[in-house]
Amino acid sequence: MSEMKTALVTGANKGIGYETAAGLAARGYRVAVGARDAERREAAVERLRAGGAEAFGVPLDVTDDRVVAEAAALVERQAGRLDVLVNNAGISGPRDPGLGQEPTALDLDVVRAVVDTNVLGVIRVTNALLPLLRRSPAPRIVNVSSSVGSVTRQADPSAQVGPVMAAYAPSKSYLNAVTVQYARHFADTGILINAVCPGLVATDFTGFLGPRTPQQGAAIAIRLATLPDGGPSGGFFEEDGTVPW
Ligand SMILES: NC(=O)c1ccc[n+]([C@@H]2O[C@H](COP(=O)([O-])OP(=O)(O)OC[C@H]3O[C@@H](n4cnc5c(N)ncnc54)[C@H](OP(=O)(O)O)[C@@H]3O)[C@@H](O)[C@H]2O)c1
Repeated sequence: MSEMKTALVTGANKGIGYETAAGLAARGYRVAVGARDAERREAAVERLRAGGAEAFGVPLDVTDDRVVAEAAALVERQAGRLDVLVNNAGISGPRDPGLGQEPTALDLDVVRAVVDTNVLGVIRVTNALLPLLRRSPAPRIVNVSSSVGSVTRQADPSAQVGPVMAAYAPSKSYLNAVTVQYARHFADTGILINAVCPGLVATDFTGFLGPRTPQQGAAIAIRLATLPDGGPSGGFFEEDGTVPW
């Protein structure tokens, strides 16, 4: 195995995840492209390689225990260890025409699906990859959250926080809370774990309506994925600094 560092990005076939993988590759990481659809995954791997990246595809649906275990086994075979895990895969769940999710009309199956991907998916993938992360001299985990998960901002009537999102926004609050518990558990281990918000980015997720490019959105995840030893852990960051819980 080469001494090259390896980064796994979930949901790396498009959007912010793809650009996170591309940005890490440009910084010298071998990138493992986690994606559930074979065609989209291979297209992303080919595009990354065409740009000079060392990349390989990892079949990965974050909601499936068996697939996640197989993904960890594949990363072990290909790289022997993992240095960076970016838990980027996420869904909003269906939205109303105003692009929100009314709490009074919420389908509980939608809540379950959103939590399964955005929260349980992160726990599932993190725990499956943890033995490989522990083999790295400087493991870094980044959970791609959202500032809509900031309860402080959501509860501020004067804050510009977009529509009511009763399934999606709390899933990111939950993810933030889980991130803090991991950071507490990892205290003094050298593993740094943080949550980040990419800002409002033009991707499939937003119907390509955000003012920021996927590259701009990926920058904060790349920054936290490449923290030096002694960097922060258990924080919630956006481009301009920390996000209030
Ligand atoms: N865009 C924004 O403005 C914004 C703002 C704040 C936070 N975020 C967060 O940023 C992250 C990336 O979003 P994006 O804007 O880049 O959205 P996107 O373009 O829709 O990409 C989402 C990615 O997640 C993957 N994914 C969804 N469910 C999955 C599953 N069960 N297993 C594996 N992969 C799965 C998708 O794969 P498929 O192609 O197979 O569907 C896709 O690769 C999400 O966590 C989102 O919550 C986005």
